[in-house]
Amino acid sequence: MKRTAVYPGMFDPVTHGHLDLADRGRHHYDRLILAVLRNDAKEPLFTVEERVTLLTEATADWDNVEVDSFDGLLVDYAQSVGASVILRGIRVASDFEYEMQMAMMNRHLAPELETVFLVPTEAYSYVSSRLVRQVAGLGGSVDNLVPANVAKALKRRFAQA
Ligand code: PNS
Repeated sequence: MKRTAVYPGMFDPVTHGHLDLADRGRHHYDRLILAVLRNDAKEPLFTVEERVTLLTEATADWDNVEVDSFDGLLVDYAQSVGASVILRGIRVASDFEYEMQMAMMNRHLAPELETVFLVPTEAYSYVSSRLVRQVAGLGGSVDNLVPANVAKALKRRFAQA
């Protein structure tokens, strides 16, 4: 039986930390879907379509990785694509509480779905989309923290601002 995992997130924008996690995850599943949440209350820097494009470009070399977007409950989406696993990353201790709450809520909603946590390489343990947006917005370099297409998109976005 084919094993599908979903790696959900805002990916606003995708960073090397996300890609490191996806690269680790894809070796354990037949199919890994990076799924961008659509209906978030927060004002994103990039539209869902832009985030999906940036993710698709950044993962183009990985055969068993797909990029998609979803609305509503993650567990409903995961079940609709036949996934048995939700993949998430834990970088630092402060991620743990939020991730545990989400994992337990998702288990409450769909006990047959398993949340699997992976640890990204320590080189990216301090990298988050929020800090990347902030640093890029203030003119700092994020070139080694995000893929080249994202670095370019950030420069374009903040040049327009
Ligand atoms: O990149 P993020 O902000 O850490 O991703 C959070 C995400 C998208 C995984 C989470 O907000 C989510 O799954 N939202 C979908 C709504 C949902 O299913 N909520 C109930 C379970 S917590």
